[in-house]
Amino acid sequence: MQPRHVWVDGRVVPAAGPHLSVFDRGFQLGDGIFETLRARGGRVTELDLHVARLQVSANGLAIALPADIGERLAGGIRELLAVEGLAGADADASIRITVSRGSFRERGLLPVEEAVQPTVAIQAWPVMPPPPGHLERGLHLVSSSVRRDPLNPLATLKTTSRADYVYARLEARRAGAEDALFLTIDGLLSEATSANIFLVRRAADDVQELATPALDCAILPGTTRSWLLGWGERVGLRPVEGWLTPRDLAAADEAFLSSSVAGILPVTRLDGRAIGDGRPGPWTRRARDDREAYVRGEEPAAAPRSTR
Ligand SMILES: Cc1ncc(COP(=O)(O)O)c(C=O)c1O
Repeated sequence: MQPRHVWVDGRVVPAAGPHLSVFDRGFQLGDGIFETLRARGGRVTELDLHVARLQVSANGLAIALPADIGERLAGGIRELLAVEGLAGADADASIRITVSRGSFRERGLLPVEEAVQPTVAIQAWPVMPPPPGHLERGLHLVSSSVRRDPLNPLATLKTTSRADYVYARLEARRAGAEDALFLTIDGLLSEATSANIFLVRRAADDVQELATPALDCAILPGTTRSWLLGWGERVGLRPVEGWLTPRDLAAADEAFLSSSVAGILPVTRLDGRAIGDGRPGPWTRRARDDREAYVRGEEPAAAPRSTR
């Protein structure tokens, strides 16, 4: 279903637009930030964590968010879900919040210092079930030729400058894979194009681990990642944030991706090589089921770990 409305700078307007100035720096330069989140039955999952991460991204680019951004966004989401028919008890919505630095008439990269209001937009779509085969067969990934530099200060911010990610997705499509995996410039696992990666393995001391790249591996500190680290502890998997290699991934028993909207999705191949026995495993299925139950509000929130 195509959205019929969007929320822009405080108002619900027809999706057909026009909405933004051609001078908007989000359009001109990718000078903006965003968040993607999910709402079930009109209840937004972890809105506070997404607003906090939006603020971190805004601070990183020196974009001044209004002091009441959290309330504005909560109100805007409520309004938009209602007019889009996505607030009912059975509704399942994905929501995108986009903030750009705003519209400047001047040329150039350096923003002028006069006070310009950032542009704030909210969009919503119904969440579609994963395509057939994704849950039963698992996703096939390719490693992207784009490498991530952990020392890049932008590596952990959710900016709208996403050409690298689009490029990697195109690489995946050309290879017949569902997604691409970024490696760091040192060849360590980083993340997929819109998800964090986890693996389940048995450690040398025979304990089962839930391992994921550490925050210094040029990853977005995912909200679902934080939830999973708490979940691992509760279900008896030892959570590990570390430096992982493609070899670790190939040798794992199971692997999966995590993100707010798609939830938990099994990964069964990297660059044509099977991970574990090449089939989605029981821990992945349990993680998906438990996260979906949490998103439906059926389970108490796991205390999220600090992501920095
Ligand atoms: C690059 C990237 N990594 C990881 C994630 C997962 O983050 P979250 O669990 O907060 O959705 C996303 C989500 O959009 C992403 O774009």
